[in-house]
Amino acid sequence: MDLLQQIDKERIPRHVAVIMDGNGRWARQRGKERNYGHENGVEAVKQTVKAAAEIGVPFLTFFAFSTENWCRPESEVKTLMELLVNAIRNETPELDENGVKLMAIGDLNALPAACRTQLEEAISITSGNEKLTVCVALSYSSRWEIADASRRIAERVANGEIKPDEIDQNLFESHLNTNSLPDPDLMIRTSGELRVSNFLLWQIAYSELYFTPVLWPDFRRKHFLQAIIDYQRRERRFGKLAEQLL
Ligand code: IPE
Ligand code: IPE
Ligand code: MG
Repeated sequence: MDLLQQIDKERIPRHVAVIMDGNGRWARQRGKERNYGHENGVEAVKQTVKAAAEIGVPFLTFFAFSTENWCRPESEVKTLMELLVNAIRNETPELDENGVKLMAIGDLNALPAACRTQLEEAISITSGNEKLTVCVALSYSSRWEIADASRRIAERVANGEIKPDEIDQNLFESHLNTNSLPDPDLMIRTSGELRVSNFLLWQIAYSELYFTPVLWPDFRRKHFLQAIIDYQRRERRFGKLAEQLL
């Protein structure tokens, strides 16, 4: 039976977040440089976007580059930034045709100018689209985001815009980079690592986590659909009893 037929169309996750991991190991297994793995990871992103659009997931976030990834060797960082510029340039027309709206989270000011310009252009071209929002996390780390939100809230308190007792979860969330996104229902991490690596810590409070040994460049439609099927078998209780969920 095709995996698609096993998917309950009524229970599609609204937001799927993906930690794309394992590019370096994929390349090493083939006796190649790590960058070869990054190059081959682009196809997996395209396939995942297609699969998400096919089943009607409205929000999809990719962890593409973390704050901590700046500490990698300069040549790797350079390749990753170039790949990003090229992928955005090449893919924007098709994304636009398919109703995809692109957005980005993270410390975008830290990106090289060429990268930021390409990104801003793609975001602007696709801003009117509504079928699927693809969010790319770049120079992102959750602790950076939380500290940044705290600083901006403190500034607003200091200039009298808000009172300390007005700070609640909703106000705090509205200062996060992800304020236009629902919390992820499902977070997928490839490559067999069982950790979250500073990604969306606030937002995944009640997300279902799915780990697969598949290395990112090998990730395809079938793996994405398998993750969705696994997600749909789970009972999300949000602290309640099972019988209270009915
Ligand atoms: C994921 O693959 C891509 C980024 C983190 C940018 P890695 O480069 O982390 O690959 P491994 O984990 O070393 O195999
Ligand atoms: C997480 O992968 C970051 C991205 C996927 C962009 P890493 O490869 O950087 O994570 P660690 O170092 O294994 O935790
Ligand atoms: Mg890794």
